[in-house]
Amino acid sequence: YKVLLLNGPNLNMLGKREPEIYGSTTLAQIVQQLTEEASKLSIELTHLQSNAEFELIDKIHSGFEKIDFIIINPAAFTHTSVALRDAILSVNIPFIEVHLSNVHKREKFRHHSYFSDIAQAVICGLGSQGYFYALDAAHRILTSEST
Ligand code: DQA
Repeated sequence: YKVLLLNGPNLNMLGKREPEIYGSTTLAQIVQQLTEEASKLSIELTHLQSNAEFELIDKIHSGFEKIDFIIINPAAFTHTSVALRDAILSVNIPFIEVHLSNVHKREKFRHHSYFSDIAQAVICGLGSQGYFYALDAAHRILTSEST
């Protein structure tokens, strides 16, 4: 199976950025460990982090009929981007939405997501561990579909 991991704006600053909220693990560390976990599950993981909305949109489009599952932390675009929502709908690829922080106990503007009502599942508030739970869930969903 092929899983695409997408991370939105400012997540390149993980480890440095507000560590009391987002933890001290860097994105490179997360991606490396997640790629190792994926290969144990016979999953090919590809990753893009971008601060630019169009790059994330283009990556989603390029996954059409190629990518089986998406794990996405849209970061601030969670709360703003109809375009990214429409991109993910346009390719019809199932996805899990991940947030490091519990967005529901933060500012009100973080309570609304343009993704949650179309996601298979939403994981938030578990830090970087959330990505690993999402990968495990993706694997379970993909393997149960094919049997
Ligand atoms: C975030 C939560 C968003 O509200 C915020 O804009 C981010 C990161 C998270 O992972 O907790 O950049 O998606």
